[in-house]
Formats: sequence, structure tokens, C-alpha cells
Amino acid sequence: LPFLCRTYVVAPAAEDDVVTDLWIQGTLGVSVEAAPAGQLRLRAYFPSTDGKAMVIPAAVLETEELLEDRDWLELFRSMAEPFELGEQFLVDPGEPHSGPLPAAPGRRLLQLPARAAFGTGSHESTALAVELLETVAISGARVLDVGTGTGVLALAALALGAGSAVAFDLDPASPFDARDNARRNGLSLPLFTGTLAALGSSSFDLVLANLIAEQLLPELKRITELLQPAGAAILSGILSEGGSMIVDQAGRLGFEVRAERRRGEWAAFVIGPRDSSP
Ligand SMILES: C[S@@+](CC[C@H](N)C(=O)[O-])C[C@H]1O[C@@H](n2cnc3c(N)ncnc32)[C@H](O)[C@@H]1O
Repeated sequence: LPFLCRTYVVAPAAEDDVVTDLWIQGTLGVSVEAAPAGQLRLRAYFPSTDGKAMVIPAAVLETEELLEDRDWLELFRSMAEPFELGEQFLVDPGEPHSGPLPAAPGRRLLQLPARAAFGTGSHESTALAVELLETVAISGARVLDVGTGTGVLALAALALGAGSAVAFDLDPASPFDARDNARRNGLSLPLFTGTLAALGSSSFDLVLANLIAEQLLPELKRITELLQPAGAAILSGILSEGGSMIVDQAGRLGFEVRAERRRGEWAAFVIGPRDSSP
């Protein structure tokens, strides 16, 4: 279906109020850019079935046009630049390739074109998880990736020498994108849509979970139950202030922090069972 794009010109001081009004009106998203004379131009997208635009007192409606639906990520993919991830990877988010790739001696190429599922690997929380992944014993490990998105963490684990990996996500788009990425990178990754409950009595040497603390907390007990006695989990996606909540809960489950990394407002941890500390 096409979208309706309404363009408004507003004074910078009115931006927050106008954006709030647009969300109240049911916009699907708003972009902001500079306009002449120090003003701002706001583009607000609505379903094409949307009725007449409501008057927003602080904004002048400049244009209203129908836009054909298209693969908006295609534009991103065509402009995306390769980047280094952790110590050992170079990610190409373009498609089919971002043109000549930079020389990256010793780095393995991961092709992760931007799709519907979360993550080409450029988010801090993904980078922290990969950096911790590069520090743990992984050779031959059975790995579980909880909330795999594009499959980035499971694919990185396989590339680093994991024996096998299973990955899943609540988001039904994810397994399609992750399966495509596994093929693209010549790796084998069983995938499913669902929750940890589907895994029955399986067990793993390493669990990867890049989820925000509120999503991770209810799953932490189950994650620890799925680990081998000497297994470990890499937990990322945690905003710094949520870290103590996760560490405390891990402690109550008999797990301790073996390593941690922080970047900006994000934190990531390696946890392992207290009794099997090396
Ligand atoms: C922050 S993204 C991480 C994606 C990818 N693993 C990465 O590191 O870039 C979190 C993903 O977890 C999924 N998710 C959230 N809660 C979940 C749960 N309880 N079980 C499975 N997947 C979950 C979301 O749909 C989302 O795709």
C-alpha cells in the first residue's frame, strides 16, 4: 500500500510539540531536516487511507503526497559501508556487495545485508557481545542464540569455531533473514520462531542473549538451566543501570560474572556457574 507523506515547516522550538501532535494523529514515523531561515522540515508518514490532515497550530502544512511503498532498506543497503566488528570480523551490510571492501588483514568477512530483523552488527550491544564472544572458549561448543535477529551472533560464533549453533527469535521475520544470512556466509544454522520453552531439555555450552534487561530477566532462569555444568552465557543489550538487576538475579541462580564490557550506556557480561570457576 502507498503511504501518505505530509511535510510541515516548524520553528525549532516547536519541534517537540509538533512531533507529539503527529504521533497523536497516528503517524507511522517522522523525519526531521533543516529548512531555510533556521526552520525545520518535518516529514510525517501516514497510512494512505488516512483522512484529512488535522490542523497543527505550531506547524505549516507544506505538501501532502502519496508515496509508493518500496523496500526502504534497499536505500540503506546501497549506501551502507563495511565496518569492523570485534577483533576478527569485517561486516559488509551492503547488497550484493558494498563495492570494493577495505583491506582487513586477518578479519573474516560476514555478509549481513540490512533486512527487517534487528541488526547488521553495528549496534553497540551487538559489538560488545561479539567482543566477549572472541574471549571465551568456543572451539567445538554447542551454542544457543536467544533473540538472534539477523543471526549475527550465532554466525560469528560458528565462524569462530563453535561446533554447532541453534538460534531463534520471537520476531517471525528473523529466521527468514537469519537463514538467508547463514547461506550467504556458507554456515549452517538451524532456526525457529518462538521462545526458550520450545527447547525442552536441550543443553548448551554457551548461550548468547542480546536482549534488553526487561526481556532478559524473565528468561534468565531458563537460560541457566539450559547450560552444561561448566557452560557460560554472554548477556548483552543491557543499559548500564539495568546491569545490577541482571547480575543480582544471576547471583541468586548460582552464577557469577566472569567478564564484563561497557560502551556508552550499554553493558555486556559473561556469566558462569559459581562452583565451576576456573
Ligand atoms: C537487540 S535484538 C538482538 C539481535 C541480534 N542478536 C544482535 O545481537 O544484533 C533482540 C532480539 O531479541 C528478540 N527477542 C526479545 N525477547 C525475546 C525472547 N524472550 N525470546 C526470543 N527472542 C526475543 C527480539 O525480537 C530481537 O530480534
